[in-house]
Amino acid sequence: SGKFFVGGNWKCNGTKDSIAKLVSDLNSASLEADVDVVVSPPFVYIDQVKSSLTDRIEISGQNSWVRKGGAFTGEISVEQLKDIGCKWVILGHSERRHVIGEKDEFIGKKAAYALSEGLGVIACIGEKLEEREAGKTFDVCFEQLKAFADAVPSWDKVVVAYEPVWAIGTGKVASPQQAQEVHVAVRDWLKKNVSEEVASKTRIIYGGSVNGGNCAELAKEEDIDGFLVGGASLKGPEFATIVNSVT
Ligand code: 13P
Repeated sequence: SGKFFVGGNWKCNGTKDSIAKLVSDLNSASLEADVDVVVSPPFVYIDQVKSSLTDRIEISGQNSWVRKGGAFTGEISVEQLKDIGCKWVILGHSERRHVIGEKDEFIGKKAAYALSEGLGVIACIGEKLEEREAGKTFDVCFEQLKAFADAVPSWDKVVVAYEPVWAIGTGKVASPQQAQEVHVAVRDWLKKNVSEEVASKTRIIYGGSVNGGNCAELAKEEDIDGFLVGGASLKGPEFATIVNSVT
């Protein structure tokens, strides 16, 4: 549903030199036209990326402050992301939830603020291994989804990223069936709790150990509308392969 969407989350990786090389590889890659492509560099390199990367690829922040900027040491505001050329922000990433300790309600408020200022939001959800093993995958995903739904007035600029925590950075990708099952459940939840229109229009993308070798099988699934890629997005040619896995 909707245009295929592939995001590259560079996380806390890179140097000026490695990022110059990555940008140059992305600029020379041939990318399928019918795909939204977004990369998310560390904040300190966004300006470098914006001034050197092809306009074909949009730029996202990896986080944003919950309200207008001001006296909030160490934070980056939505206004600043917009000023520097970002169109998107990733919110609720599992590393921010489970390593940094961000909570559902706080993440929901961030999403509402970013949307109110015109940024698109890549809204991340996903269960931990022990939650999956306890049969709580849907409960956890729905609870995280509800926090977004309770906060945001419109889903027009929201992309949901299902990223099972056990698959992130582990090399243990979800099987196409495992991912598809959750994507269907998420769409169904949106249908019941938001609207039929939002359910059918909202892109639900998968993240967690996606690479050039496994993307094609995942992309075949009906409800997988794209990917959020970590490690493999640091390699230009491999990221292009993932973008071009659109079916
Ligand atoms: P990996 O692709 O490195 O598993 O990371 C996924 C992710 O967290 C993207 O946001």
